[in-house]
Formats: sequence, structure tokens, C-alpha cells
Amino acid sequence: VTLIIQPETSPAFVSGSPLGKIAFGGDYNPEQWTDAVAEEDIALMHEAGVNLVSVGIFSWTMLEPEPGRYDFRRMDEILDRLHRGGISVDLATPTAAPPQWFLAAHPDSVPVRQDGTRAGTASRQVFCPSSPEYREAAAAITRAIVDRYHDHPAVVMWHVHNEYGCHNGRCYCDGSAAAFRQWLKARYGTLDALNDAWGNAFWSQTLTAWDQVVAPRTAPTFLNPAHELDYARFSSDELLACYTAERDIIKAASPDAIVTTNLMAGQFGLLDYWKWAAELDMVSTDHYLFGEAERNHVDLALAADLTRSLAHGRPWLLMEHSTGAVNWQPRNIAKRSGEMARNSLTHLARGADGILFFQWRASIAGAEKYHSAMLPHAGTDSRIWRETRELGEQLSGLASVAGSRVHTEIAILFDYHAWWAADLGGRPSEDIRYADQIRRTYDALWDAGYTVDFAHPESDLSRYRLVVAPALYLVSDAGAANIASFHDRGGSVVVGYFSGIVDSVDRVRVGRYPGAFRELLGASSDEFLPLRRGQKVTLSTGATASLWSEPVRADDAEIIARYTDGPAAGAAAITRRQRAWYVSTQLAPDDLRGFYVAVADSAGIARPVERPEGVEVVERRTDETRYLFVINHTDDEAAIDLPGQPWFLEVSSPGRATVSGDGLRVPPGGVGVLRW
Ligand code: GLA
Repeated sequence: VTLIIQPETSPAFVSGSPLGKIAFGGDYNPEQWTDAVAEEDIALMHEAGVNLVSVGIFSWTMLEPEPGRYDFRRMDEILDRLHRGGISVDLATPTAAPPQWFLAAHPDSVPVRQDGTRAGTASRQVFCPSSPEYREAAAAITRAIVDRYHDHPAVVMWHVHNEYGCHNGRCYCDGSAAAFRQWLKARYGTLDALNDAWGNAFWSQTLTAWDQVVAPRTAPTFLNPAHELDYARFSSDELLACYTAERDIIKAASPDAIVTTNLMAGQFGLLDYWKWAAELDMVSTDHYLFGEAERNHVDLALAADLTRSLAHGRPWLLMEHSTGAVNWQPRNIAKRSGEMARNSLTHLARGADGILFFQWRASIAGAEKYHSAMLPHAGTDSRIWRETRELGEQLSGLASVAGSRVHTEIAILFDYHAWWAADLGGRPSEDIRYADQIRRTYDALWDAGYTVDFAHPESDLSRYRLVVAPALYLVSDAGAANIASFHDRGGSVVVGYFSGIVDSVDRVRVGRYPGAFRELLGASSDEFLPLRRGQKVTLSTGATASLWSEPVRADDAEIIARYTDGPAAGAAAITRRQRAWYVSTQLAPDDLRGFYVAVADSAGIARPVERPEGVEVVERRTDETRYLFVINHTDDEAAIDLPGQPWFLEVSSPGRATVSGDGLRVPPGGVGVLRW
């Protein structure tokens, strides 16, 4: 077992925790309850070790019962009570739930779906992001809240809105189309430039006046993908403008405030979170398990690693997850004993400085009454409450972890624009879904035990030894050059099939595929040969593959594997030029895992700690201290050899982890945290 401490020259190792603690708590919506319940809440929050709650996320009507008439009495009481109780507040702007009076007065602010129908109003996030009336009303309530509470002693951070775009990520109303035209004018300047970028000469789509630009509503057949891609970019920017407007109002009153909004990293793809994260003082995210999905703990790890990467390695906040079942999946599977602790400690291991839930007390009415909470309907005489208290204790025992960092040497290149473009219609195979390709890559690296970052193709890659580009279908010239220069400076690169095919406006890079990378790879092909559903091909190494193949020619590269059957039989399947690898097909999971281990070895990356399958090992550290989180997702006790003399720090239920000699034993479903 080698656990080598790498030289820590990167700024990512400058320690520091924005909140100065491990936060523990959740969304707190006391407007649903009486004062007596709210008093009991404080006592129970103490019992559970809660130290931060998000307040007011959906309280617009309580605060502004009529246009321009504010009523802060309840909110004053709520904040004062929390302050007396020593519980900090992440104060929200309530703009994710426009009041019914607003919607009745401004029917044009109600979003329109892609099929042209307008949404109903009896719900939340009912607004068009481009609506001037909505933006004005949102700014007004934000200003009123900020004026009143910017120096309230309980408020330690600000929570703008809630999950931007979750229900209204794209609006197709006429007002949105008008705003889109302005966005396009700023991007392209002239109609000629727009026509050229979108290739509008084809199918007679040439625009002869700006007012012919429409929102890409459902049409008789395919839309122009370049049009759709720009609409995706525009929609992300429109919502971001809503965020920054509110953020700026808060900052004007309170320049040092920590302002965030909760992203849904890894589970939501409609917003360009790289661009968004740059506007947040502390990145925060929500994550919900798909209860029925196998290996959903890997999905959780991916989301946590992506969030840390969006935060550029700085500590981040898990703003929401669930203690048990949610209420919005087809079958809402309850978490079993120990699962909430494993989930929470995985987020912590991967860089979170706070673990919060939706929500503190389970609702008894409304849309989410069957969603689990920290305090369930059954009250304190319940398993969930006992496990919540235990988690609070464990997190307080892990207080010193706050501010420590995760070190990685491998990055998966990940770009929302590549995602949007790759998933549009009219592609060579509908089986290539960008998120799947990312997940398969992540899965193989997770199985092999590597902790990885995600990185934008145009970002500074110098801290990594290996970068991997799965299905990076769209890449800008700058991104392609950045990847090539990373390689030329000694980095290793794996390019997956269906990468580097188009430029940033979705125009094919002509010549042999993959246009952006053929020189880097020294290998190329003249055709895509997607496979039939379920079809398998075999490689000369004995590996099996599916989904895609290409007749790869290795002009300036070594052939690592050839296709022995299938439509590309005889051609190269995997090639290597210096430290640049091309994988032109979808390797089976075990083969992909083996491939990455070989590539990581050749890149000089230390092998991860040896551990049984299904056991996750992640390290956080400061300059002085290392914390090793061992999370056992199996039904068997896990034994791990450890070098040196670790200090046993904390363990989670069920059962107790034990350290003896050089070994750690973690009970089935348990977690052990060690400190050196
Ligand atoms: C989202 C929202 C919450 C709540 C949860 C339920 O994360 O932000 O308000 O609806 O989902 O899982």
C-alpha cells in the first residue's frame, strides 16, 4: 500500500473554510407551523446538533402579501428565535415561488413550453426568466429583504432563489424570443454572421430580418441544431442574469456577504454550471439519490466530485439531500439504516464543508408531505430522527476536517455546451448520450479507486497528470489547443469516440475524424460505424465493446488493439501516440477499468489504496493533517491495510469500525474516518 503525499504547490492546497465549520442542518420552512412548534424546533435542533438552516426559500407571499406591502413580523420572529437559539441562518430570496397575486396580474410572465402551450400557475417556479415584470418584482422583494436583514446577527450567508431552472429551464414565449434576438445580436453582430454560423442556407432557413428569429418550438421535424444550441446557451444566460441581479442587490448592502444559489450538479444539465459557479461565493449543490438505481452511491460520488471541481477545489456546501425517501420518483425507496450517514460522509470526503437536508420538519400538507425530513411525521420516536442525531454527533467530531482539500491527478473533461450539442437530434447514434458517456468513464475510474476532478476543456490543466475526454463532441479551437498543449508539456490524454467532431457553433471540422484531435492522436478515420442495439464487437486484446466503431488508421500512432470483428474488423480500435490515446469504441466496464489503470500507471499516477470491491476510499488533507474516509457500500465487513499509525477519529453506524495494527475494519454499510 502506498499513500504518497504529493508535493503541494498548487493554490488548491491553501486551506480555508468559508463558514469556518462543518455546517449541519437543512431547509427550514416554519411558516407552515405555529409558534409552539417553532419553539420546539429550536430545542430539537440543539438535540440534533443543527448549526445552519436555510430560511425563507419559498416565503414570498408571507413577506409581501400584496404588491408593495411588506410584512416582516413572522420572519423577524423566526430569525430572532434562531439567533437566540444560537443557530445560524442561510437567508433566502424567495423568488423561486412568485405569489399567486403576481401570476394573476401578469399572465405573460407564465412560462411557455416547447410545444407552445403555457404552463399552469398553481405551483412553484412559475415564471419566464426573461419577463421584465418578474425581474422587477424579484428585485423589489430582494431589496426589501436585504434592507431589513443584511445586518441581522443570525444571517451568515445568502441563498438566492432555489435550484434555478429546475422546472422552467427553458421558456419558449414571445418575450423569450425577443430577448433571444438581443442575445444573438450581441453574439453575432449581423444577420449574415448568424445565418452563416447556423448554416441557414440549408433547408431555406436564411433569415432576412431579425424579427424572423423565433424560439425553437417543436416543429414538424428536426430543428436546426445550431439554433437549439444557441437557445440552450441563451437560456442558461437568462437565468444567470436573474441570479446576478439578486446577488448584486445583496452585495450592494453587504459587500462581504457569502452569496450562493443551490446548483444540482451532476443531475441537471440545462445550465452551464462552469459559468454559474464563477458567480457564487461558495458553491452549493443539491443531490438526490435515485432510489431504484443500482450503484447510486457512484452517482453521488460523481456529483460531489463535480461540485468540488466547479468550486475549483475549494470547500463547498451540500445544500440539500434527503434523510430517506423523496416523493417525486415513481417509487420512492426509503434509505436503509446507515445509508444517510454513508451518503453524507461521501459528500464530506469529497470536499463538502456542510451537510444539509430538505427539509428540517416533514410537512403535513402541500406537494411534499411525503418527502422525508430530519424530523419525520413520527417525531423523535423514529429511526430517522435517531440517525439524524447520530450524524450530527459524527459531524461535530469531524469539525477539524473543515477547510481541508482533496488532491487529484486525473480530470475528466466536461463541458455543458458539448453536452447540449451531442444530445441534439439528427446524430449518428441516439445511443450516445453525453451524460452516460461521462458516467461510464467516471464509473470505471471509481471502480479502479481513483478520485478524479472534472475540468472544463479550456481551463488550466497543469495540476493533472492525466485528462480524459469522453464524447467531447463539441470543442472550441481554444479547448483543442489547450488539450494539445497539456499533452506537449508532458500530460497524458485519453480521447474517447465522438470527440472533437464540431466547433463551437456545431459545424463539422472537415477532413478525417476527429477533426480537432487527429494530429494530437496521430490516428483518424473516414467514417462513423455505429453498432446496432445490443451488438458486441471483439478487440485483439480480448476486450469486448459495443455502441460505436470506426475504421481507425494509425498514421503516426502505435496500435494498442484492433477490431477483430464487426463493421471495422481489421482496423485499429485503440491507438497511442506518445501520451495521447484514442479509444474508438465503448469498452465493456471491466475492460475500460483495466485500460484506465494501465494508462494511469504509464502516467506515473500512484495506485489507489487497495480495498475490496464496493469500498470507497477518499482522502482530504491540509498541510499538516490527512483524513482518510473509508465508506463500505457492501454487506460484508471491509478490511483495509494502512501504513503508519493512523489516529482513529470517527466512525458511523451501523456498528463500529476498529483499527488494529496496520489495519482498519469497517462493518457492513459503515464508515471509518482516520486521521494522520
Ligand atoms: C429540490 C428542491 C426542494 C425540494 C426537494 C425535494 O431539491 O430544492 O425544495 O423540492 O427538491 O427533493
